[in-house]
Amino acid sequence: MERTLVLFKPDAVQRGLAGTILTRFEAKGLKLIGLKLRQFPEETIREHYAVHKERPFYERLVEYMTSGPVTALALEGLDAIAVVRRLVGATNSREADPGTIRGDLGMSFSNNLVHASDSQEAAAQELGLFFPDAAEIVEWTQNLEPWIYNTAEELG
Ligand code: CMP
Repeated sequence: MERTLVLFKPDAVQRGLAGTILTRFEAKGLKLIGLKLRQFPEETIREHYAVHKERPFYERLVEYMTSGPVTALALEGLDAIAVVRRLVGATNSREADPGTIRGDLGMSFSNNLVHASDSQEAAAQELGLFFPDAAEIVEWTQNLEPWIYNTAEELG
């Protein structure tokens, strides 16, 4: 099982889409193992986007991501990182495929509703940043798992 971090950016929360977007991940069969809503401190957002710090849009991005509440989710599932990235869609919401979250719900490049970890290293680092206390990640048994996956083939 893989774990990944998802953020609902301020535009998603302000537009009242948090529930709609969460429903997509749950309906897919991803397990929710962490969830919080916060206006995150600037230091957290700066660290999260440190890879972009030389880019011209960095300061605007930090300002936007600290402008209002953000929802942070930890999700678990087989190949969860790639699965979530496909559900989210291309960075530019106007070009994202219909059926994806950005393709169905957004029109903007910068205000693109959702962040999702793009690699195992990023997921581990980002989960540690947004859920620093191990107790915020909940280990629980999803009784539906034998119906979401093929037990013999996929759950070993
Ligand atoms: P995401 O891919 O989740 O993480 C980096 C974010 O920076 C990206 O979403 C956009 O919100 C924003 N971003 C990336 N590239 C640009 C750009 N060229 N101009 C403005 N914002 C950008």
